[in-house]
Amino acid sequence: GKKEEAAAPTAAPTPAAAAPAADKLKIGFVYVSPVGDGGWTYQHELGRKAIQEKFGDKIETSMVESVPESADAERVMRDMAGQGNKLVFATSFGYQEFVQKAAADLKDVKFEHATGYKTGDNVAVYDTKTFEGAYLAGIVAGAMTKTKTVGVVASVPIPEVVRNINSFVLGAQSIDPSIKAKVVWVNEWFAPPKESEAATSLINGGVDVMYQNTNSPAVLKTAEERGVRAFGKDGDMSSFAPKAHLGSAVIDWTPYYTKVVEDTLAGKWQTGNFWWGVKEGAIDLKKIADDVPQEIKDKVEKAKAGMKDGSFAVWTGPVQDNTGKQVLEAGKVADDAFLRGINFYVNGIEGKVPG
Ligand code: GUN
Repeated sequence: GKKEEAAAPTAAPTPAAAAPAADKLKIGFVYVSPVGDGGWTYQHELGRKAIQEKFGDKIETSMVESVPESADAERVMRDMAGQGNKLVFATSFGYQEFVQKAAADLKDVKFEHATGYKTGDNVAVYDTKTFEGAYLAGIVAGAMTKTKTVGVVASVPIPEVVRNINSFVLGAQSIDPSIKAKVVWVNEWFAPPKESEAATSLINGGVDVMYQNTNSPAVLKTAEERGVRAFGKDGDMSSFAPKAHLGSAVIDWTPYYTKVVEDTLAGKWQTGNFWWGVKEGAIDLKKIADDVPQEIKDKVEKAKAGMKDGSFAVWTGPVQDNTGKQVLEAGKVADDAFLRGINFYVNGIEGKVPG
């Protein structure tokens, strides 16, 4: 925290360009998968590069990739602190306990944890409303499925992922309420062979449009080979499957990373729980395929406009779970507490949420 306090009370303008190396804000990023995953981690990496470019020699960023959600993560974060990093972005849900442990000791380091829920004096949590992107993809899926059965390759059974599965299906059912859905869990964020196997089993079960909550383009690649359709998630995955690709729900972490760096440089870093969506430019459905009817593209645009101006919320009742129980009453808009606790499948999804 030395540089922030030193900068704040100075009234006279100081030449920013000549800041000595020691005065740079050092920022570390911890990644769960390789930066080449084309998805989740790749997008964080784009965010890191964007802030490095934007803030120039005021900051110095670095990253460590393929860090498991284990004590390894704590070790990496402690190393980063030892190397003088004062801001650490830990970018996977399963780092939560390790962020808490490191942060309790390293009080002069600010931690930013995606996508956990435990904050602290020096720990903020942040996430993107990926469920909004899932819903927009669902609209397209609902129009393009011929078998009326869509599928999701699911990663780790936490509310975020269950919410995304449900939101995708709600989007599809906004086009045709009779649409059914199947889910296969791989219990990992990044496991391309397992992701492919899961996709294959969905296709063999009659699914012809797939979404996924894993980190790689494996599902799309499998769709390409098998002549069905799928979406990219987190990154623009269109290049991995030119025929199968229906659109990519792309996360942009740059607006949030820019805010955090600005705040930190100004000595105004704050803990909190930040959840940005379509409205803040954090998520968008991009590169919708040419063969998707214009009327459907218009529906996507309309939903997006509603997300932006607040007139439309994905989770507006009535919503029923797949046992027929009403979980959200007609006309009611779910609050964040509801969204963060979703542990059921909506009507039309086969099976049960694990655990
Ligand atoms: N770690 C790797 N991928 C993801 C993801 O999609 N969500 C969360 N919460 N953590 C991840």
